[in-house]
Amino acid sequence: MQRILARDVTRFLLPLLALLALVAWSASEVVNRQARVWAERDLAARAQLAASGARESLVARIAASDRAGTLALLNELVRDERLLAAAVCGGGGRTLAATAALPAEFRCGHPAGPIAGAEWEASRQLAGGTVHVSVIPIEDQGVTRGELVLVHDMSYLDRRAAVTRRATFVAFALVGLLAAAATVLVARFSWRSWTAELRRVLALPFQLAATASPHSFQPFLADVRDLVARLAAAEAAASGARWSADRIRTVLERDLRGEGVIVVANREPYVHERTPEGGIQVEVPASGLVTALEPIMRACSGTWIAHGDGSADRDTVDPHDRVRVPPDEETYTLRRLWLSPEEVQGHYAGFSNEGLWPLCHLAHTRPEFRADDLAQYARVNRRFADAVVEEASSPDPVVLVQDYHFALLPRLLRERLPRATVLTFWHIPWPNAERFAICPWGPRLLEGLLGSSILGFHTQGHCNNFLESVDRFLEARIDRERQAVVAGGHETLVRPYPISVEWPNRWAARTASVPECREEVRRELGLPPDAILGIGVDRLDYTKGIPERLLAVERFLLRHPGYQGRFWFLQLAAPSRSKIDAYRRVGEEVERIAARINERFGGAYRPIVLHRAHADPPQVFRLYRAADLCYVSSLHDGMNLVAKEFVAARDDLRGVLVLSQFTGAARELTEALIVNPYDLEAASGALAAAVAMAPAEQEDRMRALRAMVAEWNVFRWAGRMLVDATRLRRQDRLASRLVGLAAGPPAT
Ligand code: G6P
Repeated sequence: MQRILARDVTRFLLPLLALLALVAWSASEVVNRQARVWAERDLAARAQLAASGARESLVARIAASDRAGTLALLNELVRDERLLAAAVCGGGGRTLAATAALPAEFRCGHPAGPIAGAEWEASRQLAGGTVHVSVIPIEDQGVTRGELVLVHDMSYLDRRAAVTRRATFVAFALVGLLAAAATVLVARFSWRSWTAELRRVLALPFQLAATASPHSFQPFLADVRDLVARLAAAEAAASGARWSADRIRTVLERDLRGEGVIVVANREPYVHERTPEGGIQVEVPASGLVTALEPIMRACSGTWIAHGDGSADRDTVDPHDRVRVPPDEETYTLRRLWLSPEEVQGHYAGFSNEGLWPLCHLAHTRPEFRADDLAQYARVNRRFADAVVEEASSPDPVVLVQDYHFALLPRLLRERLPRATVLTFWHIPWPNAERFAICPWGPRLLEGLLGSSILGFHTQGHCNNFLESVDRFLEARIDRERQAVVAGGHETLVRPYPISVEWPNRWAARTASVPECREEVRRELGLPPDAILGIGVDRLDYTKGIPERLLAVERFLLRHPGYQGRFWFLQLAAPSRSKIDAYRRVGEEVERIAARINERFGGAYRPIVLHRAHADPPQVFRLYRAADLCYVSSLHDGMNLVAKEFVAARDDLRGVLVLSQFTGAARELTEALIVNPYDLEAASGALAAAVAMAPAEQEDRMRALRAMVAEWNVFRWAGRMLVDATRLRRQDRLASRLVGLAAGPPAT
């Protein structure tokens, strides 16, 4: 841009300077010409004066033909410094007397010289310079007795003209330079302030920019913003730029009017708990959904609506049940909804976690479907719909509906806010149609979900299962090419959006170095400094395959006794849904297996370290960095973000991920050691391969895993959904315009 500016200035300045030179030359010409006219007049007057002064003497001398006297008189006259030469013609072209310097062409009788009896004056350019000649008749009593020729030197005028010309040029050159300098300065200053102002305006959310920008920007502001955004998008696409928080913000500001989004999730991102001492502490719940959504909300701002179930949650909200979070940064709003024990039992524990959760996970737990639970489920979905309507600041908000707790909500929102963009994401697997048929209210759930604008799953397999269920149980048109379902006149896109973690990862960046974490964690666990440490980090959930995992560790130690006394496995198991029998049972089973294994190896060596406790992200990341391997052994998992977090934590490129083939993550993290967790021989073999893996191979695998997670980070997950939503909104707008056109002008 600066170069363009310099070129424009040059283009402007060169003609200006040429013009100034022309003006300077013309001005000096005019001045010099006028000076010459005045000088000629002056010399003519002086000549007349000299002639009249000498007239009487000359008449006498001409009459007496006194040459010597005349010459003496002329010599006396030419003592005037300007008078170069003088002569007296005595009639008939005869020279009576002439001073020595008289030029030949002014001699009496010369063809170009004085004419007898005629008064004459002229300027002539001679070899020695310009002269002025005056020929004045000398009369006596009305009779011309001769002519006096006076030649004045005018060469001083040439010298003066040169000086004048030079001075004029210098003066104009100075004026020109000053003008150029002023122009450049003004142009630069104006450009800078103009571009700074433009940048400021472009950085503002659209609505703000429209009001806060200077008047001069108003007419083309929208065009400029559009252009900049398109260029940025094209550039990002061309350069393959990674999705980031900033890029999400750009999409929101550019395409979604800068509105914050509304997230609906049963689990809240921050829980306020009362401590035994009476204080309040903030906890981040163990939830893959929270791990993924929280960085998105930091980027997007907006409102997260969730069930407030912390013991101090009510004490920390404002009169509208809102609290700004994260606690020290306050970038978005958490709106809490209070549910009665009956609602929690029916909606959360019953229909969601005893019905849908086991329905969708192939983990051998029988789904329980009760009509009373469904009633509470529907009621809570309606209450969340009310909250969305309350929180929406426009008739067409962008609402992100999260997970299986809200299968009915999208349709309710479609009815209440027909122009809303509803992006629903199902964080768990979707079963095949045969299994889905177990749910007595399957069609109702499908209809509910098809109120969404977009319905996302982690994998194409889950999308296919969903479409298969729609095909089997609903009257709807499935457009497989567009990956869309049209039901009741409304279209829903059904697409895979693999979820992920924040990258660069905030927690990884805040955690101590790997050697520090290794040293601290081993010391805290009472393990030797060179202990080989494997870890598992999960909610205590029967889908996570924790019993199978511990059994694989046992098998590994039995098959490779050399690792007994050198290898430990730390299982962090966050208590979860513990009022549900299946969860209580798996907790007991895990305890039992851990105790049995520890006893089996006897003595002081207890290879399984079981921590049944909640841990916040900083503690979890410390463990990731301290470990030699991480084993994710889910029996069925939509994605599993522990696997991706472990990768994000290992910027030292060490550590081995052993990953169940039944996780969504196994499709992306192909450099992990992929295992079937049911196959204890294969799983224990993978653990043996992990502990023996050479550092170079660990680095190669970890580098590839990190590249994958970095690229397919959580901003990409949300960004792709928002970009698709933007396209839908644009299509809707065009479609309604077409409808308007087809209807013709309104009747008057
Ligand atoms: C899974 C679900 C989330 C849920 C999380 C924790 O990741 O997909 O929706 O928040 O488990 O479970 P909880 O019942 O404690 O919210």
